[in-house]
Amino acid sequence: MKHKFEEIRVLDNFYQTSSFYPMPVVLVTTYSESGAVNIGPYSLVFPFGIADKHAMMLISRVDSNTSMNIQRTKKAVLNFIPYNKKILKNTVRLGFPGQTAEEKLDDSIFTLIPVDGEENGVVPPIIGESIQSIVCTWDDNEDIFRYKGREDESHYLLRIDKILIKPNWYKSLVNGDGKFPSLPIDYGYRDNQYFWFAEHKAPYKEPLPKGKGVDIDTVRYQADRLDPEVFWTDEACERIVAIPRVFLKRAMTQIVEQAKEMGYSTITPEVLDIIRDKRNQEKRR
Ligand SMILES: Cc1cc2nc3c(=O)[nH]c(=O)nc-3n(C[C@H](O)[C@H](O)[C@H](O)COP(=O)(O)O)c2cc1C
Repeated sequence: MKHKFEEIRVLDNFYQTSSFYPMPVVLVTTYSESGAVNIGPYSLVFPFGIADKHAMMLISRVDSNTSMNIQRTKKAVLNFIPYNKKILKNTVRLGFPGQTAEEKLDDSIFTLIPVDGEENGVVPPIIGESIQSIVCTWDDNEDIFRYKGREDESHYLLRIDKILIKPNWYKSLVNGDGKFPSLPIDYGYRDNQYFWFAEHKAPYKEPLPKGKGVDIDTVRYQADRLDPEVFWTDEACERIVAIPRVFLKRAMTQIVEQAKEMGYSTITPEVLDIIRDKRNQEKRR
C-alpha cells in the first residue's frame, strides 16, 4: 500500500489545483503608465536561460498591471521577500486583481529603493525588504522564445541585467558558509479562500556521489590531447576524477582556457584551486 498512487484530474492551474508544487514568492516591481511604481506578487517565476543568456520566465495573466507594464516598458525587477507573516499578509493583499498601482502603493508596507547607477523612471525600484532582487529586461524576440498558449496567459522571457543581494547574504553566498536566507515557499491558492505559505528549514548538505566519476587514465588521455601548450601534472589529473564523464572534456577545456588566460602552462592542484574558485576575486573584496 505504501507505493499506491491515485490519478488526480489535471485541472487548469494544475500546479496548485492538482499537485503540491513549491514555488517562490516574488514581488515584481514595474512602472505603470502614470509613472507610479506597481507591485505585483508572482510565484510562477523560474530560471529559464541558465548558461550564457541568463533569463527568468514569468507567467502572468495577460491583463495584469505587471503584464501591461512589461509590454510597455520592458523593465521589471523580481524581488525575493523573506518569510515573515506581516510581509506575506501584505503580499496577498497586493495580489488582489483590479487595483491600480496607486491604490496598491497606499496599501503597501514596502520600502521602494532606486537601483544604484540606473536612471530613475526607467528601471523600477527594488523592494528594500527583499533578500535579493533581479533586475530584468523583457526579450520579446519571437525567434528566441514564443509560446502560443491561451490568450489570457502570457509568458515573459526576462533577461537578467543584474542581481542585487543584501550584503550578509552576499557574503554567505560567495563564501559558501552554509547559511541560507529564509525565503517563503508558496503552495498556491488551493481552496478559493487562502494562499498557503510554508517556512523553509535550515538546509543540510549531502555529499556528491563518489566513485561515479572517471578513472585517472581517462583524464590523462584527455589532458594529453587538449592543448600541446598546457601540461597537466598527475596530481592535477587525480583531482578531477570525480567529474562525471559527460562533462569532463568541457570542464577540462575551460580549465585550460582559463589557465592560459592567467599565464599558466602547467596545471597543478594549486592552479586548479585558483581557477576553480570562480568567486576568488569576489572573496578578496
Ligand atoms: C503569492 C502570490 C503569487 C501569485 N502568483 C501569480 C503568478 O505566478 N501568476 C499570475 O498571473 N498571478 C499570480 N498571482 C495573482 C496576482 O498577484 C494578481 O493577478 C495581481 O492582481 C497581479 O498584480 P498586478 O495586476 O499589479 O500585476 C499571485 C498572487 C499571490 C498573492
